[in-house]
Amino acid sequence: MKHILFIIGSFRKESFNRQLAKIAEDILKDRFVISYLDFNDIPYMNQDWEIKGPSKCLTQEQERIHRVREEILKADGIWIFTPEYNHSYPGLLKNLFDWLSRPMDISNFANPTAVQGKKVTVSGAGGKNKTASCRAKLNELLEYIKMDVMKEPQAGIALGLEAWVKGEFKLTEEQLNELKEQAENFAEFVG
Ligand SMILES: Cc1cc2nc3c(=O)[nH]c(=O)nc-3n(C[C@H](O)[C@H](O)[C@H](O)COP(=O)(O)O)c2cc1C
Repeated sequence: MKHILFIIGSFRKESFNRQLAKIAEDILKDRFVISYLDFNDIPYMNQDWEIKGPSKCLTQEQERIHRVREEILKADGIWIFTPEYNHSYPGLLKNLFDWLSRPMDISNFANPTAVQGKKVTVSGAGGKNKTASCRAKLNELLEYIKMDVMKEPQAGIALGLEAWVKGEFKLTEEQLNELKEQAENFAEFVG
């Protein structure tokens, strides 16, 4: 079975985007191995910690970056679920993709990155903008770092009042269909 790696753009325990990913997992789990990227321990970008040469004798910071890159390399596709922050994507995703945009062995800039050519798509749950600005900017970043981005269809979920009050949400039939359509298209895209 092919493997899809989910990346959640929020570290919040009750994250709506994590809840959304869980629904997508249920849609795809009989056809793909689904796992979640654990990246809350990677440091802020610091070029002092880039990896030069073979990945032996790494510092603790470099080991964390190396582990995340290995997770990415194993995946056939990546699905990002993210909130919108100030009309853009959260800084934690920028930091993650800044690390991933760099050659795994920085001693030669022609060396491959972990993400180049990797198939990716984005969904988001947030306010009434349905994360449209966030996804537009994130799609642009992902293309810039040479990922193979499925830009349409992408599910954008405007959370209802109930979600903000109760801390959990139920998708409307229309929103669920949007998510299913993205899942089906991405399943085909990943192949
Ligand atoms: C710093 C910050 C900026 C935000 N800016 C936006 C925004 O521009 N558009 C929007 O729809 N929601 C915005 N929100 C609200 C988030 O959509 C909301 O907190 C969402 O639940 C976060 O996703 P999560 O539940 O997965 O953590 C913002 C929240 C924070 C913390």
